[in-house]
Amino acid sequence: MFNLVEVENLTKSYGDKEALRGLSFIIEEGNIVVLLGPNGAGKTTCLRILATTLLPTDGNVHVLGYDIVSEAAHIRKQIAVVPQEALTDPNLTAWESVYGYLLARGVTRRAAAESTEKHLRQLGLWDLRNRITATYSGGMKRRTLIAMALAANAKLIFLDEPTTGLDPIAKREVWAILHQLRGRATLILSTHLMDEVEALADQVIIISEGQVLAQGTVSELRFRAPGDEKVLLPKTIPIPELSCYGYIQEDGGRWALFPINKAATHEVMDIARTHGASFSIQTATFEDAYLMILGQFAEAKQTQKCHGVSA
Ligand SMILES: Nc1ncnc2c1ncn2[C@@H]1O[C@H](COP(=O)(O)OP(=O)(O)OP(=O)(O)O)[C@@H](O)[C@H]1O
Ligand SMILES: [Mg+2]
Repeated sequence: MFNLVEVENLTKSYGDKEALRGLSFIIEEGNIVVLLGPNGAGKTTCLRILATTLLPTDGNVHVLGYDIVSEAAHIRKQIAVVPQEALTDPNLTAWESVYGYLLARGVTRRAAAESTEKHLRQLGLWDLRNRITATYSGGMKRRTLIAMALAANAKLIFLDEPTTGLDPIAKREVWAILHQLRGRATLILSTHLMDEVEALADQVIIISEGQVLAQGTVSELRFRAPGDEKVLLPKTIPIPELSCYGYIQEDGGRWALFPINKAATHEVMDIARTHGASFSIQTATFEDAYLMILGQFAEAKQTQKCHGVSA
């Protein structure tokens, strides 16, 4: 399969702020790839560099086989982008926004009209098509931008937090459309939403502090958690009593302990009983695995700091 995106040792600094610190990854054609990471991780910076709207500081990046710096014009013809904080033109209607965008991309009037109608209907904007977007809600504006990107028939589509601000129904409608594009286009999107990752991602790239912490399918990353269950315990039980039985992190005012094996689960249950504490056992989720990967990264950084090595 063709590597649509190849990123090697990508760095980006804004002044003395290092936003990307040597990212490397490969994205294959036809997949939906999700960049997942906390606020400020570098997702938008990375997407903007791949979409050629921002220059990198250093590194080797190829998109669709072209170099993002010297051959950006070739890339721009074949991609579509929904930026994180993009706004629609408030004076244009949804129809004018999508149709005009397609004409500007060189699509014929007839094909543009057909595609505009199809995508406005798909995104639930058909009845609003003749109203200027200044009168739309935030979610309607967002859907207009998504309609523009999808109508462009691009090989590669970047969507920076595409469903932020959408209600649960609109969010699912967007997911259904993105699903339909699978195989026909490659989608690279960023999100904070776990349900979005689970609903869409063929591949997840977890980023924090400008570094790739992990990459894989949801189920591969899910099994980075030591077991498939977690024990929720009150924080009155001291950590030293628990720490040898698994990985512990805070979970909404309780400890969530991921036991290393079944025997450890039983030991932990016994400890809770000795403390007269109530506990519950739950199935570990993808979100647990994600938080664990972030937690382990933070701990490793702390340890390196203690030994005078910077992360
Ligand atoms: N124009 C800029 N000038 C200075 N620093 C910037 C600029 N843009 C981003 N940064 C910094 O770079 C880092 C990465 O920002 P970026 O927007 O890429 O993160 P993100 O993962 O998209 O975050 P979010 O989830 O909040 O959208 C942050 O520390 C941010 O403050
Ligand atoms: Mg962002």
